[in-house]
Parts: sequence; C-alpha cells; structure tokens
Amino acid sequence: MESLKFFIIVPPGLEALALKEIDLKCPVTNPTIIKGGIELTADLPWMETAHLNLKIPTRILLRITEFKVRDFPKLYAKVAGFSWNRYLSHPEPTWEIKCARSRLGHTGRIEETLKEGLAEAMRKQPLSRDFEKKSFPPQTFYVRIIDDLLTLSLDVTGESLYKRGLQKIKGEAPLRENFAAAFLSELFSGIDREVTLVDPMCGSGTFLTEALTYHRPLHLRPFAFESAPFYKGRLVRKVQLDLPPFPIKEAVGFDVNEELLAKVAPEVRELPVSLKFADTTKTRISVDGEMVMICNPPYGERIKIDGKKGSFLRAAWEKYLTVDAPLRFAWVLPKDMADLFSDPEGYRLRSKIDLRNGGLAVTFFVWERADAP
Ligand SMILES: C[S@@+](CC[C@H](N)C(=O)[O-])C[C@H]1O[C@@H](n2cnc3c(N)ncnc32)[C@H](O)[C@@H]1O
Repeated sequence: MESLKFFIIVPPGLEALALKEIDLKCPVTNPTIIKGGIELTADLPWMETAHLNLKIPTRILLRITEFKVRDFPKLYAKVAGFSWNRYLSHPEPTWEIKCARSRLGHTGRIEETLKEGLAEAMRKQPLSRDFEKKSFPPQTFYVRIIDDLLTLSLDVTGESLYKRGLQKIKGEAPLRENFAAAFLSELFSGIDREVTLVDPMCGSGTFLTEALTYHRPLHLRPFAFESAPFYKGRLVRKVQLDLPPFPIKEAVGFDVNEELLAKVAPEVRELPVSLKFADTTKTRISVDGEMVMICNPPYGERIKIDGKKGSFLRAAWEKYLTVDAPLRFAWVLPKDMADLFSDPEGYRLRSKIDLRNGGLAVTFFVWERADAP
C-alpha cells in the first residue's frame, strides 16, 4: 500500500492527547508533534480508520507536493504542469493560503496564479464530470509558503471532524465535541472500575455523548475524501475497533434549563444517557457507587450568571467537592480564574492543561479524591 504523508490538525494544547488517541486507535510509526498538529506517514485504509475513529483532531490534510518557489511564473508553471487528476473532484476548489519569510507574500496574487495555473492544467487534462452528476462539494487545498518552500495539501475531511452528525440541538456556549473528547480521555485515564459519569451543568450533553461514543466508529456525515479520485470505487467500511470503552455504568446530566433538556432528550435517545432538571449548586447528587464529574460551567461571558462569576463558580466547586465528593472532578475555566481553585481539601490535582477555546485562554483541570486507590 502506498505511503502517504498526512498532517492532523489539532487544537493547540491538545496535541499530546491527540497523539495518545492515535496510538490507541490507529498507531503509526514515527508521528511528529508540531504546534497545532501531528505529522505522520500512513496509507489510505489508515486515513479511513482515522476519520471514523479519531475524536480529538479537527481535520486531516493529505500532503500532495512541495517545491521551492520564488516568483509567480514558476508558481504558474508548477501548478499548470501538476497532475491534478488524482486529487481534484471539483473544478473550483477553495484555497487556504499562508506565507511567511518568503519572496511570494501577496496571498491575493498567489490565489490568482493558482487559479490560472489550474485552469491551464484542466485544459490539458479535462476533469471528469462526476462532480456535476454526483453533486460533489468544492474541495479545499492548503497552500503554505514558508522560507520559499511551498507545501500543497488537500483537506480530506471536509466539514470539521467535530461535526459528528450526531446532534443538532445545542445550548448556549456548547463545548466543541473534540475538546470534550480530549478532556474525557484525560479524565478517564487510569480509571478501571465502573463509575457513573455526571455532568452537573450539561447543556446539550456533549460530555455525555462524547464519552459514550469515544470508542465507537462514527460515519454519520460524508468525509471529503469519499469523492476524491484517489479514493474512487472504495466504500467506507465501519469496523468496530477492538477497544474497551470507558467504564461507564451510567451517564447522567443535570441542567437548570428544562426547555433545553426536553429538546436534547430525543436526540440522545439511542444512548444510555439520563437528563435531569436540577440546580446542582443546591441539590445533592447521589449515585450508586463511585462517580466521576466533568463540566463546562457558565463563565458569565455568554451565559449570564447571578452575582460575581468568581464567587458563583467557587461556591459550585466547593459544593461539588465537599457534598457530592466524586472520585474525580474536572472542569474547564478561563485561565485568569485558575488561582481561585487551588489546593482543595481532600483532593489532589491530577492534570492541568492550558489551551485556547474559541479565542479565550482556558485551563482544564482534573482533581482526584485523595483517598483514591
Ligand atoms: C457552558 S454551558 C455547558 C455546555 C455543555 N458543555 C454543552 O456542550 O452543551 C453551561 C450550562 O450550565 C447550566 N447551568 C448554569 N447554572 C446551573 C446550575 N446551578 N445547575 C445546573 N446547571 C446549570 C446552564 O443552563 C448551561 O446549560
């Protein structure tokens, strides 16, 4: 099988967790972490397995070619002479262009040249009409010119991977599915006994659905590679990997937004999730056996919270840790609030990851009860 180079785009801060996920679900030799992603060599079946199973990455790029370029005539000649027929499924791709430390720096003119070169290439090797008959969507090519070296990549994913096609209803400030998946992989790391998973402020229930589907292949939306010529004639095979799921006995979400819970419930009917209406800062959460808790509380930016946001969150945190006392408690908060939540009595800090979520610097914490074995 031909080896191909891929770049796996990952939210900055989550690269190490994404690599762990690759090692677990579709290992490769010599992957390299680069800020914002992972570079690796694999083959077409790997690409298919990765799309169905990886939950942390945002998208996957296939590296197509690279060459030195310092002027527009050379760029035009290279593009006009390139064999596009293996990759191109639609005559009008979108171009994502970035340059740094290079002679070519005008992205508008680079795009024009790419389009002209591609039009010339198409005159010499006309494109199959499949895109009309089968309504293929336009593709996206990523062009990076760094130190005069151009790297051309094709987005083989299409719509971002975190758009799973599982749920349409989202509350206010929902957490992106791939962030939720990454946080869950960290929360459950090393847990081998059965636990109840609780999200005390669950909104649309992203943590619960991601936890229950983390080890399942999903193919509920098309991927861009399915219409690419190099994939033609193949069918995506959904194969369950031989992996133990997170040891979840039950997944329970609570929220004060009863209307939202009523809309979300039918969408998650297929999964063993229960959604309950409660103010968890006031009501005790009790389950049979051990529970682990994870949540993405309102920060007061998009969702209004009464009083000072710091004191609301501090009171919620103290209540969860002292009254509900889960085996592990995890949440994600704006980084500038992190100081409010240090050294809780009876708990030790297990993980702390700084990252950005929707432009905001945030910190993800996991604490573990000090008496945990
Ligand atoms: C940022 S959202 C959570 C989003 C969720 N992670 C998702 O992906 O949809 C915070 C949620 O906390 C809920 N909430 C706020 N105060 C609460 C409380 N005292 N008890 C339970 N839920 C609460 C809000 O209604 C909102 O749905």
